[in-house]
Amino acid sequence: MSTLSGPQLVARLQWRYATKRFDAARKIPAADWAALEAALVLTPSSFGLQPWKFVVITDQPTKEKLVPVSWNQGQPAECSHHVVFAVRTKLGEAEIDAYLDSIIAARGVARESLAGFCGMMTGFANKPGLDVRAWATFQAYIALGNFMTSAAVMGIDTCPMEGIEPGRYDEILGLDKTGFATVVACAAGYRADGDKYAALKKVRFPKEQVITRI
Ligand SMILES: Cc1cc2nc3c(=O)[nH]c(=O)nc-3n(C[C@H](O)[C@H](O)[C@H](O)COP(=O)(O)O)c2cc1C
Repeated sequence: MSTLSGPQLVARLQWRYATKRFDAARKIPAADWAALEAALVLTPSSFGLQPWKFVVITDQPTKEKLVPVSWNQGQPAECSHHVVFAVRTKLGEAEIDAYLDSIIAARGVARESLAGFCGMMTGFANKPGLDVRAWATFQAYIALGNFMTSAAVMGIDTCPMEGIEPGRYDEILGLDKTGFATVVACAAGYRADGDKYAALKKVRFPKEQVITRI
């Protein structure tokens, strides 16, 4: 399997920027999109519980409806694929059981062998004061990072978007009453020629300030 060298990786990460203007005429080819969906699905999560749903929007009228509930930012309409990262609002026996079923199916192990693991997850889920939505949101942001980096490696542009009204997204996408709630979105596609943000220098604190070596 081929890998990127360190300088190649850094070049891809320098290339990525939060894209403000997408070329609305360019769509991500199906095979590339399939790889990005795989990146979403392969995202690691705490206990492996995957407390998320990724809503992929390519329907143009729906993308346009999201602009006014995205602080009037144009990316949802202009991008190729708009991804909404939604999280579970509840973590109970049913969710843990469904996950155990998928472990059994994937690895062919006996349910009894997972009793200890099940106990750990149940203990976590029942911890007094656990904010399931906040915990699931941490997991969703890992998926967001994984998605953006994967896209950058493939030469696909993205814009992470917290500038959205999550409750309105839920209404428009029919997420309310599904047990999932929107936390963040990410537009994906190809930068428009005239997007002046592409040429801006990166602003980052110096490495010495943000990395401590012990
Ligand atoms: C979680 C998150 C939410 C963001 N929300 C928005 C947004 O709503 N609109 C936007 O144009 N940029 C948004 N950004 C982009 C940031 O402003 C940008 O990543 C940051 O300034 C660094 O610039 P760069 O990504 O171009 O290197 C967001 C970034 C992150 C990580």
